[in-house]
Amino acid sequence: MDSIIAIDGPAGSGKSTVARLVAKKLSFTYVDTGAMYRALTLKAIREGINLQDENELANLAKRTALDVTNDKNGNIKVLLDNEDVAGFIRTPELTAKVHYLAGVGRVRKKMVKSQRKIGQRGRCVFEGRDITTVVFPESKYKFYIDASLKERTNRRYKELIETGEINPEDKTLDEIETDIRVRDSKDKTRDIAPLRRAEDAIYIDTTDMAIEEVINEVCSYIK
Ligand code: DC
Repeated sequence: MDSIIAIDGPAGSGKSTVARLVAKKLSFTYVDTGAMYRALTLKAIREGINLQDENELANLAKRTALDVTNDKNGNIKVLLDNEDVAGFIRTPELTAKVHYLAGVGRVRKKMVKSQRKIGQRGRCVFEGRDITTVVFPESKYKFYIDASLKERTNRRYKELIETGEINPEDKTLDEIETDIRVRDSKDKTRDIAPLRRAEDAIYIDTTDMAIEEVINEVCSYIK
């Protein structure tokens, strides 16, 4: 497990950026597990599946192939039945629906299996909500990346504008903060694999840190 770096943390904590840049620095593969839950949600929406029907969702997970790879430039490819869907999985509408799939035990079981299979390739930075607690609890390098709610709100707002997911007039900071609060609560209180800080994970509060500082701190632990 020396070649797996496991990172968890709440929405907007900056963990995706940290994971991506640490992977780049170390020439590891960046595996965004949230993107896998998002891709499956995309398929459910495309097929018009009832998101409240756990059997349908479990069946969907069973008959779907999910993979994550990186291209030459380190950009992530999210393969849903071999189609790269990375460009379709970040809309606010889809984001608001991922919790249906993320809350189903049989869906998570399939995800964990796919993620461990990807991990067998070695030299990966995994990032998500249950990576340090469920997927790779035995990994030598485990981190919990956090930041204050206010800072996470500001970062999320900036990211949404930068990626063109919203226009400045679409949402206020208060609305974004509410979205984050709702997601935090769903992630932390679900019955199966809730987001929590593993006791042996290194905790990094990035509220007042520049991204380079966080990258350097994470990398300082990697031997
Ligand atoms: O990291 P993200 O915002 O792209 O994740 C989208 C959703 O997927 C998030 O609200 C919770 C869920 N998720 C999860 O339950 N387990 C993971 N390992 C990763 C994401």
